[in-house]
Amino acid sequence: MPTLKIDGKEVTVEKGRTIIQACEQLSLEVPRYCYHPGLRVVGSCRMCLVEVEKMPKLQIACNTPATDDMVVWTENDKVKEARRSVLEFLLLNHPLDCPVCDRAGECELQNYYMKYAQHDSRLLENKVKKKKAFPIGPHVILDQERCVLCSRCVRFTSDVTQTGELGIFSRATYSEVNIYPGKELNNNYSGNVVDICPVGALLDRDFRYQMSVWYLKEAMSVCPGCSTGCNIRVHYNLDRRYKTQGRRFQRLKPRYNEHVNKYWMCDEGRYNYRWLDTDRLEQPQIRDNEGLKPADWDLAIAKAAAALKAAIESNGVESIGVIPSPQMTNEELYWVRKIFHENLKISLMPFSIPPRPDATSDNFLLKKDKNPNTKGAELIFAENKGQTIKTLLEVARAGKIRFLYIFHTNLQQLFSAEIVRAALDPVETVVFQGTNVSPILDHADVVLPAAAYAEKAGTFTNFQGRVQRIFPAVVPLKQARTSLDILSAFAKTINIELPSLEPSEVFDQLAAEIPAFHGLNYASIGLTGKLVNQPESAAAAD
Ligand code: SF4
Ligand code: FES
Repeated sequence: MPTLKIDGKEVTVEKGRTIIQACEQLSLEVPRYCYHPGLRVVGSCRMCLVEVEKMPKLQIACNTPATDDMVVWTENDKVKEARRSVLEFLLLNHPLDCPVCDRAGECELQNYYMKYAQHDSRLLENKVKKKKAFPIGPHVILDQERCVLCSRCVRFTSDVTQTGELGIFSRATYSEVNIYPGKELNNNYSGNVVDICPVGALLDRDFRYQMSVWYLKEAMSVCPGCSTGCNIRVHYNLDRRYKTQGRRFQRLKPRYNEHVNKYWMCDEGRYNYRWLDTDRLEQPQIRDNEGLKPADWDLAIAKAAAALKAAIESNGVESIGVIPSPQMTNEELYWVRKIFHENLKISLMPFSIPPRPDATSDNFLLKKDKNPNTKGAELIFAENKGQTIKTLLEVARAGKIRFLYIFHTNLQQLFSAEIVRAALDPVETVVFQGTNVSPILDHADVVLPAAAYAEKAGTFTNFQGRVQRIFPAVVPLKQARTSLDILSAFAKTINIELPSLEPSEVFDQLAAEIPAFHGLNYASIGLTGKLVNQPESAAAAD
């Protein structure tokens, strides 16, 4: 473990670490372009130059090993002058696009220029022109003039996705990043090249010209798109002119978690956010002879509760079916269990959603199971494991179910419309609690609008058994409520004692009761998650 001194501060680092990593340990920022902690080091941009005593020239911090008794200076005049020169070189042919560049506000050329350079251009000749803004794949657009040739995108496609679509072509001033002839940047992770490009050369077609980044707000979350549970940041904007209650979700970005997704996320998850603002269920509804009609919350819940009571009184608990969803948080599933399993003793509660045959997956992050909390549902509904929605629909088709409570599950995505109709027509009351308009509403008698994952707090348990927290970015849309609120109100109406608690308190109760969650709480889960007490999940994480 070498001990060295950086800017007068002593630090001990693991053997094999570089100066830039030692600096990070001290929270010292060394500017960089080509270095990215998730990629192979190439040491080509020279932006990270630092002074190391007893070495004749400045050294690159990203590729110089930290050794014992080294004395490093990262911010003295010599270093700053070197950085200024590197920036002058990189900016020589850089176009003055900043006012129209999507990267403005989060561009490392802009940031470092303001910090270290602030020079006027000394170039008297015309700038070298390169090809501007052209699509290189379904999600990414390339502007060669803005590129600083750091090769991060090239290394990402050659080393991380191993698809090798990008390369650097030509020599000297005419060097340019480009797509190989006949190729397209269409791998499952193409959006990541936009995140790692330090400048505005690679841009997201989805986000381009949508918004200046300084208007964005963010919340930490977990992608609900599959059972990997990649850690993400949800970026949104608040403006009262938006019809969606003055808020609009703009983009999702990966958040580093060494145990789950490292620095990356897949395109399928990244671009799966429009539904948060589109076709949402905005108010409770009750069906009468003419169809679904808006209702207030008390009425809708009272109607659902009365139907449940009537079904139990006349046909017993065997006439009740519940479909909990692995889209729900652990806390919500726990309260579904409390109400329907523990109090009402309902046994027919299939929760597992079989993957669709066309579901995409790969051997990196993307999983066939498109639900973020299948593992949590398995642990919370251990008694119901093995039950299938198909069996429930067969029982319903035989006319044995009078009351069916469906959470977040659009059955028409799993079965044909005929199968769903044949099963649900004989059911007297179908309650649907969910976030978006879907064909299942054709069969619902009571509709309860629920908050989406970015509008509530809670936890998901990913396929490894890692419990991870989600945080609310905004309040639920219009009249929607969090599922915990809805379940509390519903429980109260059927005389079940379920206090209105904060998600963290519900989780504490869950952790006290369900063995796999023993010892966990929101503080110990933190921002990177904690494994449940399952030997096989610990093994999976290794
Ligand atoms: Fe680097 Fe961006 Fe140029 Fe790729 S396009 S080499 S990431 S600056
Ligand atoms: Fe070190 Fe580029 S960051 S040389």
